[in-house]
Amino acid sequence: MASIIPLLTEFEKQSISERQPLPEKYLGLSDAEMEVRIAAARRALGSRLVILGHHYQRDEVIRFADYTGDSFRLARQIASRPEADYIVFCGVHFMAESADVLCAPHQKVILPDLAAGCSMADMAAPEQLETCWEELAQMGLAPRESSGTSAVVPVTYINSAASIKAFVGERGGTVCTSSNAAATLRWAFERGERILFLPDQHLGRNTAYKMGIPLDQMVVWDPDEICGGLDPDQVRAAKMILWKGHCSVHTRFTARQIEGVRQQHPGVRVIVHPEVPWDVVQAADDSGSTEYIIKTVSNSPEGSVWAVGTEVHLVNRLAQQLAPGRTVLSLDQFGCLCSTMFRVSPNHLLWILEELLESRVHNQVTVSADQKHWNRVALDRMLSIT
Ligand code: 13P
Ligand code: SF4
Repeated sequence: MASIIPLLTEFEKQSISERQPLPEKYLGLSDAEMEVRIAAARRALGSRLVILGHHYQRDEVIRFADYTGDSFRLARQIASRPEADYIVFCGVHFMAESADVLCAPHQKVILPDLAAGCSMADMAAPEQLETCWEELAQMGLAPRESSGTSAVVPVTYINSAASIKAFVGERGGTVCTSSNAAATLRWAFERGERILFLPDQHLGRNTAYKMGIPLDQMVVWDPDEICGGLDPDQVRAAKMILWKGHCSVHTRFTARQIEGVRQQHPGVRVIVHPEVPWDVVQAADDSGSTEYIIKTVSNSPEGSVWAVGTEVHLVNRLAQQLAPGRTVLSLDQFGCLCSTMFRVSPNHLLWILEELLESRVHNQVTVSADQKHWNRVALDRMLSIT
């Protein structure tokens, strides 16, 4: 009987082959003991170490970060500490890959648990993108070498594998984050007639709609269907070709939840991350990256009440620490957890740091030499667009 061999993404291949699991002696430690030992290891490593923490990390981890931020801000921090030998990235795999591309050659980037991936990033495999690009060419949307503008400019969200970023960089495209997505689309429309946006259809749709592009000028490309499941005329008429990918955390938010929270808390303001579906952004008062959400809520008038549609650790931190004098609720009453961000535990952080003290490096993330150049091109374009 024929067996089906699953297609592994770059990330899955690397994690399976190289992931070093947490040694047993690091299990079952008390919070207090871990806190003391992490602080001691961090002190001993001094300026040889820099810890970056994404806003979705747990409190027990993020409190040790030298820099916290959204994807854009963290990517910008990489160049600020060239003296550090080790960059410990408390976040997910695509963030650590970008750090490896942007850091100095002597620096090592470590993701405390290599299984901390991103389900959205896994929704775009390089083979699928190559097929898509060929099929677009068959539809008459091939890149134009001679003229100043292209038929299609590829733009990938930073939440994608290094192989995808390299592909995009090599074809005149760029990377965007949730904080510079609108500027990136403007940049791309100056260079081409339409945009292939991947992997998050929602960020692409929400951003383009906010810029005035109507929904009927956007199509969804399903990488599991021949020609994306689309008629060539539909694709040629579109301004935005949106890859059929999504975030499983943010697609749990609904317009109905917003209706409910408005009934329960009259006067509440609702702010969501742009990875939520389009109708949820329409029903909310505001949307933006994690950094934008923090700034907006913490700078709002004292006494304001907010319902926030993003990952639960950030919502709880806003409620408890970052926005004193404001009431902050989760839009989803059960709170949406990113289970891969959660994989980075204080136990992992402690193990990684104590091993570094012995000059042992575990769970290093490296982008292959053949992909580094075009990744760098794509990420440098991203950093220049604000
Ligand atoms: P930010 O860049 O807004 O922090 O978002 C990253 C992310 O993964 C959101 O799900
Ligand atoms: Fe990926 Fe969603 Fe988690 Fe962000 S919240 S890291 S997009 S799975």
